[in-house]
Amino acid sequence: MMSLNNKTILLGITGGIAAYKSPELVRQLIKQGAVVKVVMTEAATHFVTPTTLQAVSGNPVYISQWDARISNGMPHIELSRDVDAILIAPASADFMAKLSLGLADDLLSTLCLARGHESNGMLTECPLLITPAMNRQMWEHVATQRSVARLVQDQIILLGPASGDQACGEVGMGRMLEPAEICEALIAFFQPKLLQGKKVLITAGPTYEAIDPVRGLTNRSSGKMGFAIARAALEAGATVHLIAGPVSLETPLAYSGKIFRTNVLSALDMQSAVMAHQDCDIFFSVAAVADWRASQMADQKIKKQHATDIPSFDVVQNPDILQGFAKNSINHHPFCVGFAAETENVVEYGKKKLMAKNIPLLIANHGPSTFGEDHNQITLIDAAGETHLGPADKLSLARDVIREVSKRL
Ligand code: C5P
Repeated sequence: MMSLNNKTILLGITGGIAAYKSPELVRQLIKQGAVVKVVMTEAATHFVTPTTLQAVSGNPVYISQWDARISNGMPHIELSRDVDAILIAPASADFMAKLSLGLADDLLSTLCLARGHESNGMLTECPLLITPAMNRQMWEHVATQRSVARLVQDQIILLGPASGDQACGEVGMGRMLEPAEICEALIAFFQPKLLQGKKVLITAGPTYEAIDPVRGLTNRSSGKMGFAIARAALEAGATVHLIAGPVSLETPLAYSGKIFRTNVLSALDMQSAVMAHQDCDIFFSVAAVADWRASQMADQKIKKQHATDIPSFDVVQNPDILQGFAKNSINHHPFCVGFAAETENVVEYGKKKLMAKNIPLLIANHGPSTFGEDHNQITLIDAAGETHLGPADKLSLARDVIREVSKRL
């Protein structure tokens, strides 16, 4: 799916070695459906050429405030009026200091000061997002931190920086976020803030119930739907605690500092992790928790010595984490959303589970069609009836789920 459809982004590039990543950023923004216009400082042209940026963006690149290609001679006004956001990547220490003081001595700094977004005859301030990139000494310098504080106060959105290897050979804070992360952050910026300030708890993936040190009972859940809900909740402004069973998925929007992940294996581990977060506002119980576990785990690998050897082990039922959570959190009333993966009678079984677990919303889907897949279709079941969503990719569905839940809070 293209999440930046109908968006025009003005990408400002300032003088820093991370500018070599800017063409890749342009490509990723375009891949998401955005129109990209590039403005560079003169220093930026020492790191990456305007020709490269023109080629990848498909639009003229502007550097000088005296550029005669803008017919009224006012590029600092004209260039921002039809854009949905200005993104500065990389943003150098010098450029941040200039922005924080309102200095305007070249095209990019002047257009940031004059930025305005025109829509339906109204002129509002165009959003400005910056991704700092500099040596760690420069980032930590009191003068830069003073700029940061002023920029935040002025409602300029800072994305990063990250910590890690630096071009100068040093290691520390000041690396620009990777193009993919910047692109995701921009996509998140444009999503409606339906869960601003809410604390969201999510379980995702399967659980693994060990039989012996090398074998266990599990299921085919990939965790993709739970992780998509985590991403959509973050995009909507929430803080997320993600409790993940054994999955091979990256934590979404990890750089944001608003997602905390706990990895667990068994249902009992998952239950302890869930119960430690009873103060949440919303609980999405997306995990496909194993219904049973071996009553005792063998200390050593169970050996197959003879052709006729068939191991036997007793199983016991796992606790229902969601049901227990919904019951125990009765004084605080987090909004609980259950998921049900069925192979038949999907909606009918879903309705029964809504009642049995005593929760306000249950999302039913067909297990074999969703486990491991990138697309799905789901049915939301609550007291008011059924809402069918999809087929669609899981992130689109997750955003729809967030919208539906926010309506019910
Ligand atoms: O009963 P069933 O397993 O089909 O219910 C599915 C829902 O209940 C999911 O939301 C799942 O996360 C939750 N669940 C749970 N603990 C279990 C079994 C399921 O929290 N032991």
